[in-house]
Amino acid sequence: MSIFHPLYISSLSFNNNVWLAPMAGFTNPPFRRMCLDFGAGASFSEMVSVEGIIRNNKRTLTYIECVSDNDIIQIFGGDYNSFYKASKILSERFNIKVIDINFGCPVRKVVRGGAGSFLLKYPDRMADIVKAVKDGGIEMVFGKIRAGFDSEELEKIIPSIDKAGIDLITLHARLAIQFYSGVANRNYIIKARSLTDKILIANGDIKTPEDVENMLTETKADGVMIGRMAIEKPFIFKMVKDYFALGSYENIENIDLRDLVVNFVNSYCSYYKNDNIVGIRGILLGMIKRFPFARELRDKVAKVKTSKEFFTVMREVCYD
Ligand SMILES: Cc1cc2nc3c(=O)[nH]c(=O)nc-3n(C[C@H](O)[C@H](O)[C@H](O)COP(=O)(O)O)c2cc1C
Repeated sequence: MSIFHPLYISSLSFNNNVWLAPMAGFTNPPFRRMCLDFGAGASFSEMVSVEGIIRNNKRTLTYIECVSDNDIIQIFGGDYNSFYKASKILSERFNIKVIDINFGCPVRKVVRGGAGSFLLKYPDRMADIVKAVKDGGIEMVFGKIRAGFDSEELEKIIPSIDKAGIDLITLHARLAIQFYSGVANRNYIIKARSLTDKILIANGDIKTPEDVENMLTETKADGVMIGRMAIEKPFIFKMVKDYFALGSYENIENIDLRDLVVNFVNSYCSYYKNDNIVGIRGILLGMIKRFPFARELRDKVAKVKTSKEFFTVMREVCYD
């Protein structure tokens, strides 16, 4: 069997095992829709605060929007009670059946609040949280972890959440204190593989279809997640699909990036019924990185506020 294949997890089925990673500030619904359209097997929302859900925070609740059956909401928080209450709301009010728990965010504000990667120091608490989400009525519980907080602790972490009933584990192959520095360590994933039979998704530094192939072959993980490269090349999912189906993929120059960016801005504005694109300037800056006129565009795109301004800049710089 090809290493690029559909994934079935209980009643869930995913077209393939190459997925879009959750990224705060980036994986908004229109961006996820675009990556799914390019062939991502699943996509993950920006992390959503369980406290915000419990407080019925209007802005938080706007994040709870699935754009397809394979689009999964990720939540973060610190303890059993808040995860339980938030999961009850998600299952009963929003009819959500699958949740991904953030056990990896290294951002100081999140760690100080006892959430994200802070929990890697306390595998028992992680197990409680997995149980809380299930007890709250969520059928399938995924968890995204790092290999440890400041040292590798997979032997404690993985059996603990496995026993608590987690259905899928994604491992970003770094320690929390590394943030994004250094190189993702595939040995962490090989070790995780030896510690669990649950579905294991490998993550970290995948930039090309060949990287997908190497990661899956070397680690025997069930799938991969791609984060940062999907911002630069949302069509990486098509490249991967073509690579495994045809043995080759189109070079970036052959894909009309201008249309891609314009279409994304249009779909973002129509999704939010609003002309304001400040929230996706980061994505746009990533997507235009490889344009022939990138340097000139960059400074201008960094300042645009509305789609109208963006299209004017595009016309000035990119079209004759
Ligand atoms: C800007 C940014 C925001 C992120 N936000 C989240 C998040 O909300 N939840 C999460 O689990 N991981 C988050 N991550 C981590 C990614 O999901 C992924 O694990 C990491 O970027 C490594 O994969 P990559 O090398 O393919 O980018 C974020 C990463 C970046 C760069």
